Amino acid sequence: MKRVIVQFGGTGDLALKKLYPAYEHLMELGFEFTVIALGRRFQGRDEFIKGMISDKASKQFLDHLEYLHYDMHAEGATKPLKSKIEQIIGGAKDVELIYYMALQPSLYEETIHQIKEVDSTLSCKCVLEKKIVVEKPFGFDSVSAQRYNAILQQAFDDKEIYRIDHYLGKEFMQNLLILRFHNDIIRSIWDNRSIESIQIIFDETHGVDQRLGFYEQIGVVRDTIQNHIMQIITYLTMNEPATLSPEDIAIEKVKVLRAIDSISEFHTGRYESLGANSGRIVETPTYAALKLFVNTYYFAGVPIYVRTGKMQAEARSLIYVKFKNTTAKVMHDETIGENGVVITIHPELTIDISMNLKQPNTSWESKPVRFRFNQAETFGANTPEAYEQIVKKILQGDKSLFPTMREISESWRIVTPMLKEDHHLEVYPVRNLPKFALDMAHQDNFTWFDLA
Ligand code: BG6
Repeated sequence: MKRVIVQFGGTGDLALKKLYPAYEHLMELGFEFTVIALGRRFQGRDEFIKGMISDKASKQFLDHLEYLHYDMHAEGATKPLKSKIEQIIGGAKDVELIYYMALQPSLYEETIHQIKEVDSTLSCKCVLEKKIVVEKPFGFDSVSAQRYNAILQQAFDDKEIYRIDHYLGKEFMQNLLILRFHNDIIRSIWDNRSIESIQIIFDETHGVDQRLGFYEQIGVVRDTIQNHIMQIITYLTMNEPATLSPEDIAIEKVKVLRAIDSISEFHTGRYESLGANSGRIVETPTYAALKLFVNTYYFAGVPIYVRTGKMQAEARSLIYVKFKNTTAKVMHDETIGENGVVITIHPELTIDISMNLKQPNTSWESKPVRFRFNQAETFGANTPEAYEQIVKKILQGDKSLFPTMREISESWRIVTPMLKEDHHLEVYPVRNLPKFALDMAHQDNFTWFDLA
C-alpha cells in the first residue's frame, strides 16, 4: 500500500516541533509513508530542507519527505497539489491519502473545500482510501465547529475524520483510566463521598511570540481549555465504561461533559509584554483560572479548580485530588493532614498518594508521607511522545485516541462564556501568577497545590 500524508501547515511550528520528529521515528519503526509538506515560506524543497529540517534527520525520512510551495489563496492553487499527489502515487494499486490540517481554524473552511476539490479530481488507477486529520481547536466556537463538521462530512465519512487532541496520546492520560479502572481500592474512594476538591494546574514558562500569528486569534480558552483541560476532566470524573474500547469510553465522556454547566466562574489575563516582539501589544488571553462542577451523581458538589497559561515562573503540570479530612475532626486533632493523590505530568511523570503515618519517637503523632510511582524509574525513559502515539493510531486506522464530534460540541458549549471579548483581561507581569488566580483560592479558602 502506498501511503501519502499531505501536510497542510507544513512549515508551521507544530509540524517542525512535533510532527516531523514523530514521522521520522515512526519510519524508523517500520511504518512506510511519504510526506508532502505544503507551505508558503519556501519556494522549493532544498530551501525547505535547509530552513526547516535538522541536519541530523535520517536519510530514510529525507527520502520520504517532499515539499510543495502552496499558496492556498492563489488562483488554481489545487492543481499543482493534485499533480504532486498523482506523481507520488505513480502506478500504485492501493493508496491511502491522509490530509493533515495543522492550520489555524480561520483557514479550515477554505482548506476543506480545496481538499474536496483535489479529492474529486484525482485520477489514479487504484483503490483509494482517505483520511482527514484536523488539529485542535476544532473550530473557533460552537457555530464554526458545526459548520466545519458539516462541510467535512460532505466529503468524508465520520470514520475517516480524525479530530486531534494530542493530550489523549499522552501516557499520563491513559494511565488515569488504568489507575481508576484497574484498581478496586481507587474505585471506592473516587467520588464526592471522599473527594473534597480537584485542582488542575498547567503553568508554562514560555510565551507565544514565536507563534503569535496563530495564538493571537486563539487565546488560552481555545488553545488548551476547550480541548486538553476538558478531556482531562472527563478522564478524572467519568463513570466506569463498559470496556476500555473507544466507543464505550466516548459514551462516558459525553455524559460528563453534558453534566457540566457553561462556565460562569472564570477570569482571564494576558502577560504584559504579549506581542512586544512584534512591536504591538496584543489583547489575547494567555492565562485563565476557572471553577466548575461536574453535576453527576458521583461528582456533584466537588469543585474543580483550573489554572493554566503562559509565562509563569515554573513549568508545572499537575492534578491534585484532595480528599475530605473527616479524620481531623473525628480525632479532635487539627494537625492531621488531608489525604491526596497528586498526578504530576511536568517536570516528571509521577503519581503520589499522600497518607499520614506515625512519626517515630512520638505518641500518636503522624506525618504526611508520599507513596510515589515514577514512570521513568519503573518503566524506563522510553515513553513515546504523544504525537507519535497519535500519528501511529491514524496510520493504523484506530480511533481510540480521538475526541468525537459530540465531545467537541459539548466542550465548546461549556467554554462559550469564556470567549466573550468584552470580558475583563487582567494584565500580569511575566513570571507571576495573575492576581485573580490567588484571589480565587483566597475566596474559596483553598491553596493552590505546590510541588515543593
Ligand atoms: C498545545 C498548545 O496544544 O499544547 C500549546 O497549543 C501548549 O500552547 C501545548 O503549550 C502544551 O502541550 P504539551 O504537550 O507541551 O503539554
